[in-house]
Parts: sequence; structure tokens; C-alpha cells
Amino acid sequence: MKKAVSPRPKTAKKKLQHPDIREVLLTPEKIAAKVKALAAQINKDYAGKEVILVCVLKGALVFLADFMRQLTIPCVVDFVDWSSYGASTSSSGVFRILRDLEESVESRHVLIVEDIIDTGLTTHYLIKHLSGRNPASVKVVAIFDKPSRRKIEAKADYCGYEVPDEFVVGYGLDYDQKYRNLPFLGVLKPEIYAGRDTPPDKP
Ligand code: IMP
Repeated sequence: MKKAVSPRPKTAKKKLQHPDIREVLLTPEKIAAKVKALAAQINKDYAGKEVILVCVLKGALVFLADFMRQLTIPCVVDFVDWSSYGASTSSSGVFRILRDLEESVESRHVLIVEDIIDTGLTTHYLIKHLSGRNPASVKVVAIFDKPSRRKIEAKADYCGYEVPDEFVVGYGLDYDQKYRNLPFLGVLKPEIYAGRDTPPDKP
């Protein structure tokens, strides 16, 4: 008799609902598959080299944790925390370093690990800033990208998913420091931030 094969576990989008989420854009399975593919490409491209992973706090934390466990190349992890001046959550382009790297990047291969590239300001200035410290190379891996929102030239060398012009949360991304723990990427209901002093920089 043929043995019953249990189906691959899949998370149905409806099971991923959250009362503050309008729509689930990417399931945990889709994100995991992309993280694996990005890491496989980077393992290939950096074979024989050591990289320093520069995680941009706090949004990239969840991606970093999944991504680095798929790396087979030697790697070191460090963190930066940047804040742009101004009350709005949109990047103003003037940055204050809240936490700088502990490691020197001189003569090392730097891979900036980003959650999402939105206006591009964070990525642009981080590349510029770290390039001034004489690294062997500087590249960017971002799990999400909103290319339609660019204010300045910024491109991930390794890019996960392009997302639409919406304010998204989950998989590390927050609104008001919340929702980072959601395992999926979803669109936040506009009524959650409506009327607040600092609404997200909604398109
Ligand atoms: P930038 O506009 O490209 O400089 O992005 C700065 C940061 O804003 C990103 O690293 C995210 O942490 C955050 N961000 C941008 N878009 C969103 C979003 O849709 N949801 C949550 N955070 C976002």
C-alpha cells in the first residue's frame, strides 16, 4: 500500500491575519525562500572571503538572524543605529549616529544588511559613510525594496522582494516600535496611524 505523503506545511494567508493588518503581502514561507536564495548567491559570490555584516538597527534584526544562519562563508556581525533628524518618521537625510560600529571595516568586505530601502537616504549615506573608512568593498543586501519611493540613488546589490507603495510592517519592520514580531509582511490599516502626530511617511 502506498504510504500517505503529508503535504508540505503552508501557512494560509487567512491564518496570518492580525486586526491591524489590511493585507498580508508576503507569507513567512515566501520570505524564508527568498532569504535562502539571497544567502546562496552571497555564499557563491564571496567564496573564500570573510564578510562583515553591518546590520541597520532595528528593522533589519529579524532578517539578519535568518540570513546569517544561511551563510556558509565566514562572517562577523556588527550593528549601526542611525536616526534622521526631524519629527516625522520619513528620512530627512540628516543623520545622527546613535550607535556606531565596534569593528573596524578597514580592508574588509562590508555587507550592509537592510530591512527595506524606501527613500534610499539611509542606504545612500551609509554606503558613503562606510566607504570613507577604507573597506575592501561595500555592498548592500535588503530583504524588501520600495523603488517607487526613491529620493536619492540607492540600490541593493542583493534585493529580496519589491513591495508596493504602502506602509508595511512585520518581519522586523515597525510602526511606533510595534509589529516587528509579525512573521509576515503586511500592509498596516491606515486607521491605525490616522490622526497621530507622526504618521508614517505614507505615499
Ligand atoms: P529610507 O527611507 O530608505 O532611508 O528608509 C529608512 C528606514 O525607514 C528603513 O530602514 C525602515 O526601517 C523604515 N521604513 C521605510 N519604509 C517603511 C515601511 O513601509 N514600514 C516600516 N518601516 C519603513
